[in-house]
Amino acid sequence: MAPSPREASPKLQQAMEACRETVNKTMSSLLPGTELAEAPLFDGMRYAVLSGGKRLRPFMVMEGARIFGVDAARARRVAAAVEFIHSYSLVHDDLPAMDNADTRRGKPSLHKAYDEATAILAGDGLQALAFDVLANPETHEDPRVRIELVGLLASAIGPHGMVGGQMLDMIGEKQEFDVGTISRLQRLKTGKLIAFCCEAGAILGKANPAHRQALRNYAHDLGLAFQVTDDLLDAEGNAEEMGKPANQDGKKATFVTAMGREQARARAEMLVEQAVGHLRVFDAGRTDLLKDLAYYVLKRRL
Ligand code: IPE
Ligand code: IPE
Ligand code: MG
Ligand code: MG
Ligand code: MG
Repeated sequence: MAPSPREASPKLQQAMEACRETVNKTMSSLLPGTELAEAPLFDGMRYAVLSGGKRLRPFMVMEGARIFGVDAARARRVAAAVEFIHSYSLVHDDLPAMDNADTRRGKPSLHKAYDEATAILAGDGLQALAFDVLANPETHEDPRVRIELVGLLASAIGPHGMVGGQMLDMIGEKQEFDVGTISRLQRLKTGKLIAFCCEAGAILGKANPAHRQALRNYAHDLGLAFQVTDDLLDAEGNAEEMGKPANQDGKKATFVTAMGREQARARAEMLVEQAVGHLRVFDAGRTDLLKDLAYYVLKRRL
């Protein structure tokens, strides 16, 4: 069962549920599912993607795209691609060599449900599939738009993005970081992919640079706030509600370990206000759900 974003406003909750349903269908149709000898890989990929998840990143893509009147079927392909990437990152993040987490989205982690080799390969497969989807003309008829999406996603998740951040996260278990470095770590490991999600609609819709920059700024602040609240939820310790282990980050470099829960929460609140402020450049009403989403990030329980 998909988790319900209980702390979201009714309007946001409804919109997120509708988005989850349609993007799930798109993802299911894009994932491999044939009866070949390597089918356990396909099963593992499907398990990683289709077993719950809030689908926040797809929602950001769809809402960003809506501002610019982008065709929803195209936006859904980009939404699916980012959720493939996000799911891959969670599968690898849970491996024994990394966070060694046995549960994810309320179920056994992929390496527990299958095995480590399947988890590594399913993650690799999802990453490649995401780029395959973006490069396909069905995503956009203009090859310049497609190459821009491919290039921006690659840089968001590569050595100067998510993977670099994950490396810093590992190093931070053994080495003390100052708040500036922790902030960079979080922006890389979580913020960059969120920034891609928010900017993708502007790319698909060939938005003007000011509008694109506004969404990038919104994502920059919201992405960091999102990771701070993830770290707060870990410290608050409700593993059952979150569907993943809690109290795991005591030895990690996070805002919570660096400045304590109260100050970390105050920082997240400030970042969310800043994020919402960046949306002022858009006509009233067009970004209501993105505003609601920012406040939901603070209130979420999973
Ligand atoms: C968890 O992300 C990993 C982080 C970057 C903190 P989400 O909280 O969005 O996880 P799902 O997709 O809902 O499971
Ligand atoms: C994960 O951060 C970030 C990525 C997967 C890139 P965490 O390790 O804090 O995520 P959870 O808490 O396991 O979901
Ligand atoms: Mg981790
Ligand atoms: Mg983890
Ligand atoms: Mg965490």
